[in-house]
Amino acid sequence: MKDEVSSNEIVRFKSLESTNDEAKKIISNVSPKKPIWVVADKQTKGRGRGQNIWVSEIGNLFCSVALPILFDTKLLPLLSCSSSIAVFDCVKEYLPNTEKLKIKWPNDILLNDSKLSGILIENIITNEKNYSIVGIGINVAHSPTNLSHETNCLNNVCERKVDLKDVIDSLVKSFNKNLLHIYKNDADFLINKFKNNSWRYQKNIQFKLNNKVIEGKIVDFTNDFEIMIQTDKKIEVFNSGEVSFNY
Ligand code: BTN
Repeated sequence: MKDEVSSNEIVRFKSLESTNDEAKKIISNVSPKKPIWVVADKQTKGRGRGQNIWVSEIGNLFCSVALPILFDTKLLPLLSCSSSIAVFDCVKEYLPNTEKLKIKWPNDILLNDSKLSGILIENIITNEKNYSIVGIGINVAHSPTNLSHETNCLNNVCERKVDLKDVIDSLVKSFNKNLLHIYKNDADFLINKFKNNSWRYQKNIQFKLNNKVIEGKIVDFTNDFEIMIQTDKKIEVFNSGEVSFNY
């Protein structure tokens, strides 16, 4: 089944191994000129960042957008920022109380320190084509258990039962709205919005660098969406591949 929201095509599947992998197939088969969203009711091999799996039961949202990169690839780190803000804006609409809704750099959406959503971005940059695959998982009906962190889901905190189709439509809209700031090269807007909603901004955190746990304070984010952490007396700048956080 296909439908259109803001001129984005949405392709729906009952079951896929991973919506990111399906988006990759679409890119290699048809090189789409416009974004195509792949949505699945469930995934049998859902992937998270690093080596993690993404538990993918029916009732939660699993989607990936195959996005032709129509901006300078130097701005790609901002896509990670705009995607996080898009999910934040989308889920915010469903919550009775948004005070404890935060974005944990780079891409996790937390509610009361429990994970509500995760994003996996994979890029295809070749001489022939430039695409980004932004894979988004939102816990709508289930909060997966037995993970190294706590999770939460929208139905657990919303006053009404959340309709998955509504969530995807609203996500496509907020994704496109925030993406416009990359086309306009407006890093300031995105980084400021990120900072205003960032988990533990200006607070101490424990982070893992080269398998060592270190303590430091999140002091800022650069316009390339790197994190600036103050440890002892020096400020260090890291990209998302270098550090991870305990929470
Ligand atoms: C993370 O927080 O580790 C990222 C999780 C990303 C999960 C989504 S679900 C839809 C898309 N397909 C996948 O296999 N992974 C992403």
